[in-house]
Amino acid sequence: AVLQAQTLVLKADAMLDVNSGQLIANTLVLIKGNRIHQIGSQGEFSVPADAKVIELSGQTLLPGLMDMHVHLNSDARLHGYKRLAQSLPRKTLTGVTNARKTIENGFTTVRNVGAPGYADIALRDAIAEGELTGPRIFAAGMSLGITGGHCDNNLLPYEYKDKAAAVADGPWQVREKVRMNVKYGADWIKFCATGGVLSKGTKVGAQQFSQQEMDALVDEANLRGIGVAAHAHGLNGIKTAIRAGVTSVEHASFLDDEAINMALEKGTYLSMDIYTTEYILGEGEKAGILEESLAKERLVGGKQRQSFRNAVNAGVKMVFGSDAGVYPHGHNARQFSRMVKYGMTPIQAIQAATINSATMLRQQDKLGSLEQGKLADIIAVPGNPLKDIALLEKVSWVFKEGVLIKSP
Ligand code: ARG
Repeated sequence: AVLQAQTLVLKADAMLDVNSGQLIANTLVLIKGNRIHQIGSQGEFSVPADAKVIELSGQTLLPGLMDMHVHLNSDARLHGYKRLAQSLPRKTLTGVTNARKTIENGFTTVRNVGAPGYADIALRDAIAEGELTGPRIFAAGMSLGITGGHCDNNLLPYEYKDKAAAVADGPWQVREKVRMNVKYGADWIKFCATGGVLSKGTKVGAQQFSQQEMDALVDEANLRGIGVAAHAHGLNGIKTAIRAGVTSVEHASFLDDEAINMALEKGTYLSMDIYTTEYILGEGEKAGILEESLAKERLVGGKQRQSFRNAVNAGVKMVFGSDAGVYPHGHNARQFSRMVKYGMTPIQAIQAATINSATMLRQQDKLGSLEQGKLADIIAVPGNPLKDIALLEKVSWVFKEGVLIKSP
């Protein structure tokens, strides 16, 4: 049952201030309605008489986690030809389950970067209207891509005439597909700037869309006031996308110093899914991932982790992006320990999934940290995540906008 208190007080052993990286001991958080009304140490303010008090002993409070690269309508057990056999209505329903798994594991906000048939928009709205339990979704609708590219459907032979609905060739077609996505409710644009691992017949290193097409895409999105996420593994695609002015580069596997400097100069965010490789190479074959994709993953995974380390050391702006949907939803947080292993401090990894993501989404006035006036998206973990980052895989409490979603 959902517990909705007008006035709620959370009492915890500690709270993490993600801006300073400081742990604040013995915290009280006063929630009124959907917002954080006041935060203080015990004794600093008096608990209102009508407040419902929840004791979270042994727990550390953090802002709700944010994953900037998910596919809620994708089932990780189905890849390749297995996924092709699944209908759009079935994908829509799987999204309902995956949304619940995501929020119950501490992720209160996600950016969904590509879904068939606007299933992500329907899911976003059903959650926002209170009909379903799930994270707040920023949805990209259908991903744009070139004919035969990573964002097209390439599994069937020519006579089936299968083509992804947001395939676009040429600047004006690109603009049209951006406009179509906005028409049907997208609040972000996702496109494929290079080949990918999991698509048939594409080269991870090869650029997709010309500079002219990417410029048109980003210009059109800017006109509509929305951000752009570019899928890009290969170097030329990454650089072309950064030059075009995308908000974030996804995967960003093959970075060189020039690409890193370009991202620094332009303020481009990187969203690097460095856990996915373990699932693809471990479970992928069983799930139907094609042998050619497994071969591509063997080339990409290690390089991406090196690139991640280089980008972190250079100080590029990083957000947390998991590509859940390729691997099981609810396991998003497994990536934190890899982010620390490959070069981040624990607080940097947490900032990527909180304040940096909120800032990239231009929601930093509402989301991303525990501060007075922000939405009461709050999670708790049993201990100090700065000492043991893997505690983020053990989220015990979740509140979204002051509503209890999960308790131990
Ligand atoms: N969706 C991505 C693609 O197909 C997944 C890449 C996963 N691999 C990785 N090393 N991050 O390209």
